[in-house]
Amino acid sequence: MAGARRNLLRTVFGASLLATLAPFLSWGGFLFRPEAKGERIRQRIINLKDFPVNSKYTFPFPATGDPMVDSDPFRQYILVHLPSGDLRAFSKVCIHLWCLYDYIPEKREFQCPCHGSVYNADTGVAVRGPAAFQPYPTNTLPELVLEVDGDGTVYATGLKGRVGYGREYRAETAWLQQRQSTAPNTPVKAYAPFRDLLTPQETLDLIQKNGLQVVKWYGYFDKSAREREWLTGETTADITNATRIYAVDVSATPERLLKLADLPQVITLMPRQ
Ligand code: FES
Repeated sequence: MAGARRNLLRTVFGASLLATLAPFLSWGGFLFRPEAKGERIRQRIINLKDFPVNSKYTFPFPATGDPMVDSDPFRQYILVHLPSGDLRAFSKVCIHLWCLYDYIPEKREFQCPCHGSVYNADTGVAVRGPAAFQPYPTNTLPELVLEVDGDGTVYATGLKGRVGYGREYRAETAWLQQRQSTAPNTPVKAYAPFRDLLTPQETLDLIQKNGLQVVKWYGYFDKSAREREWLTGETTADITNATRIYAVDVSATPERLLKLADLPQVITLMPRQ
């Protein structure tokens, strides 16, 4: 009982603090995005034998081992073993005003104690309360990418979305799906802006892994602290010395482009002539 009261106080205190600080915080520095640094994380969470269906487990990600750092609300995630048998792990920070919500097993949904936002536990999409009225993608909880090995051990390997902000879960790819059904073997040109500015090597890896042909690069060289030179955009440009690449025009079959649109590095795909 005392423990429950302490947890409640901690949640309410954390929530009030976050709500009070929210307008003053720097979004860019505060919101945690491990993939932005290109880090590959594979963090063990739990084994399924200790995690029955319709139960929840809260943990820090990425864990540092330092209790002070790991208790930061912006590192808290909730793993849920859904009644369907599927696993989901979402950031615990409510995307309305940053309170910490919880999983309610009887209702099989997430509920936020502050203003009543309710999230679907399968998708992380807000279905009731103020968060449900926020525009896409700020109505959807950031989600961890999970892996389960042969022993039933669950790992978190990355984050989709931005903690406290939301998550894009669909790209605007109706035009590509249409090409896929009418001319699946004909290459299509598309403009692909990146969520984070990539290094040349990260860009080349992404192109190579996905079997894409580059038509144009978009990026820049930092000539000095004040002087920047923009890439010409031609395929033949040498990008190896570029400081950052922010987009590419690529050519590939609709099937490959649809896969590209699903990658966390890609914001969307737009048709090019
Ligand atoms: S902070 Fe969660 S509903 Fe307002």
